[in-house]
Amino acid sequence: MDDLKQKYLSQIADAGDESALEDIRLAAVGKKGEVALKMRELGKMTPEERQVAGPALNALKDEINSALAAKKAALGDAALDERLRSEWLDVTLPTRHQRQGSIHPVSQVTEELTAIFAEMGFSVAEGPRIDTDWYNFDALNIPGHHPARAEMDTFYMARGEGDDRAPHVLRTHTSPVQIRTMEAEGAPLRIICPGGVYRADYDQTHTPMFHQVEGLAIDKDLSMANLKWVLEEFFSAFFEIDGIKTRFRASHFPFTEPSAEVDIQCSWVDGQLRIGEGDGWMEVLGSGMVHPKVLQAGGIDPNEWQGFAFGMGIDRIAMLKYGIPDLRAFFDADLRWLRHYGFASLDQPNLHGGLSR
Ligand code: DAH
Repeated sequence: MDDLKQKYLSQIADAGDESALEDIRLAAVGKKGEVALKMRELGKMTPEERQVAGPALNALKDEINSALAAKKAALGDAALDERLRSEWLDVTLPTRHQRQGSIHPVSQVTEELTAIFAEMGFSVAEGPRIDTDWYNFDALNIPGHHPARAEMDTFYMARGEGDDRAPHVLRTHTSPVQIRTMEAEGAPLRIICPGGVYRADYDQTHTPMFHQVEGLAIDKDLSMANLKWVLEEFFSAFFEIDGIKTRFRASHFPFTEPSAEVDIQCSWVDGQLRIGEGDGWMEVLGSGMVHPKVLQAGGIDPNEWQGFAFGMGIDRIAMLKYGIPDLRAFFDADLRWLRHYGFASLDQPNLHGGLSR
């Protein structure tokens, strides 16, 4: 029995893994193991012999079982140690560098002005960038012979021979959205229409595609006074300067009567533009009372309703607010420019949290 004990205890001590240990268990204390065989021999013994051998065999079985359990636990600990060693991770290492995109100034400024006009009850309306010449010109009281039509440097869509659809243009301004929205919603109305527009023109302050925002308010008793209040309210909020002054200069647009070009107060100090101070003026938009023919084209009765409209360049006010000198760079997709002038993607502009940080 001592031999058996020595043999199995040393095998257990040498076992390298759990399956070797299981083989030893079967050979030693399994149903057909050596200890079981010895137990079977008890029957052939005399009662005296059995009294000594029985408990001794049980003790041997217990001893082997507990040696197996101890070894099994030790092997488990070693395996865990090994796993912890091999799967070790240095969580203090710097993360891999990930480039983050930024919000383009045009998108940022569109969000900003949308937030400001929303506060004054204007909702956003949109229209197609490819539109008929009727929406882009005629409905806005710009007939075929009108000089404004020639001055717009319009891109016309190519037409196949025999194509008798109405001529289509890349819209030269956002004003056609006025007509589409009047048709769709009727009066009263309070909308802004931001979006891309196209003209064949290219220099430091002109690109063939740029952005405008149109404003339109129709009601029973709106006047130029309401227009002026809305615009001054807008510019103060947009440039984050209280009480910006505007100057209305008589002008002419086919779609408004009377018409005015609007300047905001500014000054030049050491070649730097300062908005909202001094005695200089900077032209920022065109506006006026909506022409009766335009209301009619939109299906609204000019004897019952009247309103004001304005149109302003989004890229241009972005350049003014954020000190961006060249318009062409807006559309070059140069990553260095985008990183420099772009905005953090999670900063949603709103009037209470600040328009831009
Ligand atoms: N559509 C004009 C342009 O592109 C801008 C404009 C002027 C829009 C006066 C208006 C307005 O609504 O009333 O130059």
